[in-house]
Amino acid sequence: MQPEDESIETAPAEAYTHGHHESVLRIHSWRTVENSAAYLAPHLQAGARVLDVGSGPGTITIDLARRVRPGTVIGIDASADVVARATGLAASERVDNVEFRVADAYSLPFADASFDVVHAHQVLQHLARPVDALQGFRRVLKPGGLLAVRDVDYGGVIWSPASSGLTRWLELYRAVHAGNGGDPHAGRHLKRWVREAGFGDIEATASTWVFSTALEREWWGNSWAERATTSQFAAHAIESGRSSPAELERIAAAWREWAADDDGWLLMPHAEVLARA
Ligand SMILES: C[S@@+](CC[C@H](N)C(=O)[O-])C[C@H]1O[C@@H](n2cnc3c(N)ncnc32)[C@H](O)[C@@H]1O
Repeated sequence: MQPEDESIETAPAEAYTHGHHESVLRIHSWRTVENSAAYLAPHLQAGARVLDVGSGPGTITIDLARRVRPGTVIGIDASADVVARATGLAASERVDNVEFRVADAYSLPFADASFDVVHAHQVLQHLARPVDALQGFRRVLKPGGLLAVRDVDYGGVIWSPASSGLTRWLELYRAVHAGNGGDPHAGRHLKRWVREAGFGDIEATASTWVFSTALEREWWGNSWAERATTSQFAAHAIESGRSSPAELERIAAAWREWAADDDGWLLMPHAEVLARA
């Protein structure tokens, strides 16, 4: 962390597994409502006030803002760096009904019943106390307001062709993620967490990301090759004693090999839940 970094500390039991290396943000910046929040899209109404928790680089948040005009969207994130980046992106795209702030998902700095929609994409999986966070989301929703949460489940990631390097990547990824206080199998628990937090009218569905074309494989595979060796994930894997630089190089090579293979195909399953406060 830079001395001037104004990021807030997340709970001591947690560390954000991916960090905000360029190779990570490149992947997160591809995200839109269409490819990451299609289940929410039909429920977005013009004039709505929306909170996006753990908004990261802000591409989904900005897309939400375009869809609820003249409503407003606030994106919050624990990292001051990504908040600055998202703020810059909104300005360059001339979207003025969105605002980004540094804040903690566990203690939202907003009044009770102040949002129509609270959205969180790929965030609950990184929290050691997801139900506590969801209770806070419910507090800031208006009665009858809409919750929309979506998380991957790394227990269901499948690919072809078979690769011992990618098998080791998945095993290591799940261990590092859990070691950081999160849950790599969050997807399967979302519905229960939302019910335990007191929400009603729960609708639990799923959708996938598939990476298959040469362009998709190059983008996803090469980003992961870089993440395996240079991102916060690599640092966590080595510092926790779970891996070594040599093994991470082998994992990166496996990703490059997969990306170069015309038969390469990979699927990530995502659980998504809509519910009412
Ligand atoms: C996987 S990224 C998802 C970003 C964005 N929602 C997207 O899908 O592009 C998770 C984000 O949650 C943020 N985060 C993790 N723990 C947090 C906490 N306790 N409070 C606020 N943000 C948090 C991280 O900084 C990161 O930007």
